Amino acid sequence: MEHRRRPQKILVAVTGASGMLYLQSFLRVIQDLNLVVHGICSEAGHKVLALEKGLRPQDLPAVSVWFDCRDFASPPASGSSGYDAMLVLPCSMGTLAAIAAGISANLIQRCADVMLKERKDLVLVVRETPLNRTHLNNMLAAHDAGAIICPPLPGFYLQPATLEEAADTFSWRLADQIGLDIPGRQRWGTEI
Ligand SMILES: Cc1cc2nc3c(=O)[nH]c(=O)nc-3n(C[C@H](O)[C@H](O)[C@H](O)COP(=O)(O)O)c2cc1C
Repeated sequence: MEHRRRPQKILVAVTGASGMLYLQSFLRVIQDLNLVVHGICSEAGHKVLALEKGLRPQDLPAVSVWFDCRDFASPPASGSSGYDAMLVLPCSMGTLAAIAAGISANLIQRCADVMLKERKDLVLVVRETPLNRTHLNNMLAAHDAGAIICPPLPGFYLQPATLEEAADTFSWRLADQIGLDIPGRQRWGTEI
């Protein structure tokens, strides 16, 4: 995949959708890549992370700073702060809707808006099932504004043996989207 340059500084935003396993997996697979990783967690994100994993954001690997989701004066709220990519992982339908409409009512929504205006990589790991028409329209609107819609769907053809291995197959695809190479990752067809 062609990219401007390998990302050095990324922003990970956690919202209140199910799928914190994928967040843990992604942060684990990137933790030795020497990246600057900053985080933001919504109020609902805190709740779901505690419910699903019994964790606080500060308990997760790789992220050096967690910004307050209400703090619009924190660095990533400005396009000048120099993030190469932002992932919303996982992304609730509420946050998707706000991003699609450019609402910027909290720091996550504002940062996503900034990434789009600066033409930087914004990956939305949208999670809901089933999807209603509003969800689908919002995904298309966000896509058309420049976001990458990347629902958390593992590659079962790689024969993962555990939930963690399944989540890792998805994390590798996420890493591809922002131009990161994960050492030791499996790729389909590379044995020939
Ligand atoms: C355990 C739990 C799981 C949830 N899972 C989802 C989900 O998968 N997708 C979704 O859109 N909302 C989900 N929600 C609802 C969101 O947390 C809620 O809409 C919230 O307002 C989202 O706010 P945020 O986008 O600011 O994080 C879930 C809530 C809880 C408590």
